[in-house]
Amino acid sequence: MAKMWEGRTSGKTSEIADDFNSSIRFDCRLILCDIKGSMAHAAMLGYCNIITKAESELLISELEKLYGEAENGTLKIDYGAEDIHMFIEEELTKRIGDVGKKLHTARSRNDQVALDFRLYIKEFCDTAVEKLKALIAECSSLAYKNADTIMPGYTHLQRAQPITFGHHICAYCMMLLRDIDRICDCKMRTDVSPIGSCALAGTTFPTDRGYEAEKLGFASVCKNSVDGVSDRDFALEILSDISIVMMHLSRFSEELILWSGAEFGFIELSDDFTTGSSIMPQKKNPDMAELVRGKTGRVYGDLFALLTTLKGLPLAYNKDMQEDKESVFDACDTLCMCLDVFCGMIKGLKVNKENMRLAAAKGFINATDLADYLVLKGLPFRSAYKVSGRVVAYCIENGFVLEDLPIETYKSFEEKIEGDVYDAIDLHNCVVRRASEGGTAPANVLSQIEYINSKL
Ligand code: ARG
Repeated sequence: MAKMWEGRTSGKTSEIADDFNSSIRFDCRLILCDIKGSMAHAAMLGYCNIITKAESELLISELEKLYGEAENGTLKIDYGAEDIHMFIEEELTKRIGDVGKKLHTARSRNDQVALDFRLYIKEFCDTAVEKLKALIAECSSLAYKNADTIMPGYTHLQRAQPITFGHHICAYCMMLLRDIDRICDCKMRTDVSPIGSCALAGTTFPTDRGYEAEKLGFASVCKNSVDGVSDRDFALEILSDISIVMMHLSRFSEELILWSGAEFGFIELSDDFTTGSSIMPQKKNPDMAELVRGKTGRVYGDLFALLTTLKGLPLAYNKDMQEDKESVFDACDTLCMCLDVFCGMIKGLKVNKENMRLAAAKGFINATDLADYLVLKGLPFRSAYKVSGRVVAYCIENGFVLEDLPIETYKSFEEKIEGDVYDAIDLHNCVVRRASEGGTAPANVLSQIEYINSKL
């Protein structure tokens, strides 16, 4: 078939060039955005008397039919078309004849594709926020049930200080809440209509870009037509935001994997979110968490692919930019799947409080509390730190933990230590007393949960 650009050239391209050039395989996903954009464009053309009212109405009503068919899956997409924009225009013209050919007045595929992509990403932002909220709600209820479950907090993966499991989970909630903020922020900058930029320079027709943007629900119109068709920073922004969410999920996954192993034994993942081994009958593998961790690399790849594609591109549109879509689609799909899976995984997670408590009791994680106790008894913190360190070394050598070291032995290290030391180093007390703002005290955890839930 002759190409729509036939004229300047013969319009006859080789089959291999056609295949190479075509993007309909993946941009067919933009079909609903594309038709919506075309309906608004047809309305604007009529409103501005660039085409007649009757032509505008005919275009819109046929586009509405196409939209319905695309939505219910009865529209047969011609994968021989160059891209989704050409397919819709060709289909329209097939159905209503020459009026179909008027739709592209005062428009170019350059502003059209930028528009479709922005519409798609805006919708995705809403979906992602909903899914993040569902996950945060699940985490917040897990945190609530464990507001006073004591576990060792780690630095350098070494037992550090006692915290509550609820506090630890709330940390992830805070991260995910910021992820929502970032995505909303991205949506705000994506919410600018490029349509009417045309190929790059605007148009000689008396268009009304504001009218068209408003019909499509955009907050504003881009101020520079070259910018409107050239930049994909909004796509990079959502890819960065998705990468950051995935980074958070990946750290969370890593902890679930560690905690569910026998060495930690802090949690058990439910049967429906784990797998068995084909050879080792005893295995219960945390595949879902591992896959989320693994897919994080793939999403980073998507971000870097687009960053690299755009690097060094001269203004305005270049065909390189057709490569912008697959990485974004892949990252969006991956994030949605990961969030859904994570939600289910957290829902079925069982906490082994005894093992957490046991691990907390073994690691001298109350050594800081012993030092703090000595500070209260009048020692400067540095000296208190030294005494506490020496006591710990003694305990390790002689098979004690701080809780069962006799008071006489304590006194041999520091006269000022008295019977109330046991109270000071009791793990439960250690946690309850960390009531500084943002600290791990169960009361703080409850107020964090209240904050988290209020944000949902
Ligand atoms: N399929 C193209 C893309 O995704 C649409 C824009 C084509 N514009 C052009 N001047 N060739 O970027």
